Amino acid sequence: MKEEGKKKILWAQNSMKVLTLLKKEFKKEKPFEGLKIAACLHVTTETANLVIALQEGGAKLRLCASNPLSTKDDVAESLIEDYGIEVFAKYGESKDEYYQNIQKCLSMKPHITLDDGADLTSVLIENFKEYGENMIGGTEETTTGVIRLKAMEKRQELLFPVIAVNDSKTKFLFDNRYGTGQSTIDGILRATNTLISGKIFVVCGYGWCGKGVAMRARGMGARVIVTEVDPIKALEAVMDGFEVMKIESAAEIGDIFVTVTGDKNVIDKDALEKMKDGAILANSGHFDVEINKKYLEENSIKQQRIRPDVDEYTLKNGKRIYLLAEGRLVNLAAAEGHPADVMDMSFSNQALAVKFLKENGKNLEKRVYTLPQEIDEKIARLKLESMGIKIDELTEEQKKYLSSWKEGT
Ligand code: ADE
Repeated sequence: MKEEGKKKILWAQNSMKVLTLLKKEFKKEKPFEGLKIAACLHVTTETANLVIALQEGGAKLRLCASNPLSTKDDVAESLIEDYGIEVFAKYGESKDEYYQNIQKCLSMKPHITLDDGADLTSVLIENFKEYGENMIGGTEETTTGVIRLKAMEKRQELLFPVIAVNDSKTKFLFDNRYGTGQSTIDGILRATNTLISGKIFVVCGYGWCGKGVAMRARGMGARVIVTEVDPIKALEAVMDGFEVMKIESAAEIGDIFVTVTGDKNVIDKDALEKMKDGAILANSGHFDVEINKKYLEENSIKQQRIRPDVDEYTLKNGKRIYLLAEGRLVNLAAAEGHPADVMDMSFSNQALAVKFLKENGKNLEKRVYTLPQEIDEKIARLKLESMGIKIDELTEEQKKYLSSWKEGT
């Protein structure tokens, strides 16, 4: 199994040119010598490349999963056996095991934490403050995690500075949009092998992830409907050419539903009862709370696993609803998550956030920060370079023009 894992890690590395460049720099300069890092991330081939890069820079790492269904066991095994990285994660681990593994990671008393969804930070703050005595700071990968951390900051409960990696442009504009867009469709296809073309495809939420999913579903020939609560995002969806309506109306006509809102019970009992026989439901939001799974469990006359990652619920009204990946991140549970090409940018942000914390953490407050724009632009430039794309530069005349206000009509 570890041989397979290693091959997959190296395959992903081929598409992570920016991170590979940083890894070479880290190997030479050893900026993380003596640093202990506890990471709570999806244990994938891309994450493997990130932790290997940090290890090359001198860090000592522990890794646990940020979702019980996203761990690729062969990757975890290779990290342990081929790279000597301590991994506490298993595909299909129970909720208790999931939290025990977070605790094991934290017990190294890290200087820096990497989080995806803020579970590790929450556990540290709520139950194990003593594990945070050495902390310089943390990083956070995803929108949901940043929302939770900002709530901690507002209540003055945050114990150290955190870099919201999600809020770098080279993260959310690419990972959230193109990564979630493609990998969500990938997860639905691997789980169901259904035809997207001609289907009524309902996307709940039109943030960057929702935009990506809607765009890719349309690209595959679906008739796409968007549901939203935010009037500006709803208007964007309308002007992007999607039908926008309330979930109750969409529920009656949709064939495939994807939630990507970050909120709870977005598909609730009323919508579930209205759905057509055979409706397929998937979630690509961080937590498994967006579809009211409890209602399905408590109100079905029959429940069976019909394929791996597909659960059939027969409601009292006789209609069958198909829930993918238990309502957890379908792109990671039923597929492999975002492709390495986009994770290259997300994880270069993570790697440079660790370096930024190492260099500046002591001067930061217990707040949520975004990485400086120069770092964001550096990643974009390196990514373009790795793709062999050259762009123009401002001339002196143009720079001068942009910095003055005197030239008008
Ligand atoms: N989040 C989404 N896709 C991912 C991937 N491939 N690896 C790690 N985290 C992810």
